[in-house]
Amino acid sequence: MRVHVADHPLITHKLTVLRDRTTTSPVFRSLTEELVTLLAYEATRNVRVDPVTIETPVTTTTGVTISQPRPLVVPILRAGLGMLEGMTTMLPTAEVGFLGMARNEETLEPTTYAERLPDDLSDRQCFVIDPMLATGGSLSAAVHFLFDRGAVDVTAICLLGAPEGVAALEKSTQGRDVNLVLGALDERLDENGYIVPGLGDAGDRLYGTV
Ligand code: URA
Repeated sequence: MRVHVADHPLITHKLTVLRDRTTTSPVFRSLTEELVTLLAYEATRNVRVDPVTIETPVTTTTGVTISQPRPLVVPILRAGLGMLEGMTTMLPTAEVGFLGMARNEETLEPTTYAERLPDDLSDRQCFVIDPMLATGGSLSAAVHFLFDRGAVDVTAICLLGAPEGVAALEKSTQGRDVNLVLGALDERLDENGYIVPGLGDAGDRLYGTV
């Protein structure tokens, strides 16, 4: 797994405001979108393109266009939805699929409660978006869901990650082509599974349920 942790003052500035407990939901939502566009810039560095020839008003020239089949963006419900707009701003031609993951309270294993994805993902570049990489359970399950549909090229984008989550994702995807792009790598998880220093519950902060 290749891990890229953003190192840009604009990203760190926006993350600082996002972390602040006094930041309101509307500001939190728009900052999340802005952050995702910045992270998408890095995450799409290897997006597949094909050469094209076009006419400018002046002459004929060559450029590139995003390859077919189109990239697939997969937000993990619910908090991943807050990152979707930012991602599709950068990749407007991408197809969007959805994965709802929840923890089974008996087995503590992540289970899929909703899924809307193409059946065949072979040859698709997949971008999974989920703001918080905490234990890594749901992100690993989501990535394996995509592998099971034939995906071979998966990039996960998270605003914040804990070392525990990065290690878990790394372990569960050994030998596979996976990229992880993080806005920041935080210190640790606390005893309740929250990222420290973190930003609290991303879904609650996005959707105003606190
Ligand atoms: N999910 C969140 O929303 N926040 C955390 O800190 C950990 C998991």
